[in-house]
Amino acid sequence: MPLTQRHTDYHTHILPGLDDGPREMDVSLEMARLFALAGYREIYCTPHLIKGMFDASEADVLQGRNNLQRALEKNGIPIKLLVGREYYLDEFLLDLMKHPMLLEGTTCIMIEIPANTSVDLVKESLFAVKRRGYTPLIAHPERCQLLEMADHSQHSPGRFKRWLSGSREQYNNNQPGNDLLDYLKLLGCQFQGNLGSINGQYGNRVKTSAQNFQKNGIYTHSGTDAHSPESLKTILGIA
Ligand SMILES: [Fe+2]
Repeated sequence: MPLTQRHTDYHTHILPGLDDGPREMDVSLEMARLFALAGYREIYCTPHLIKGMFDASEADVLQGRNNLQRALEKNGIPIKLLVGREYYLDEFLLDLMKHPMLLEGTTCIMIEIPANTSVDLVKESLFAVKRRGYTPLIAHPERCQLLEMADHSQHSPGRFKRWLSGSREQYNNNQPGNDLLDYLKLLGCQFQGNLGSINGQYGNRVKTSAQNFQKNGIYTHSGTDAHSPESLKTILGIA
């Protein structure tokens, strides 16, 4: 899926007062107006669930969605809100998977992989999630260094040496790779890219990574991961 599709946003922090998104309903409404202006019609509300930091309950999320949906209707903003969570891959994840909140209408559970996690914990956790019958949807994999692909399109000494030796076949073998990414793909994970990553919002390293993911057809879902009207304007390129 191209990250630039603008019908459904699978990853937002638009609900007020539940995480590090907006605190007030008015701000959520402003974000919704921007989404509608940009052409979006469906928005997944995916507040963080990080134990000890953002602990809003499933009931809080449902109530928050219902309240905001009513406000959208009252204000004539043509957007349908769906619920989900952004889970954090740590030692508490599997306990939370006993009663997970799926992305509404799907079998997907959105999970972010923190930079300081071990490869073993990632593999074990996502294997267990999959065994329970769910589809792990990896949030913004391009921002996770564990999933960074080797970029053979860069000018590396190895590549130059291969060119000098005349091995054009190898020279043109532009297949990025990453063992953990290959494992997750085989496991049946899906991958949600951030629109701001491809726009360079997180710097050149993440932008290059997002370009590699896009070029290799890895993204299955697109999202803004918007936390405020200001960040959303930047992501969507609205002045
Ligand atoms: Fe997020």
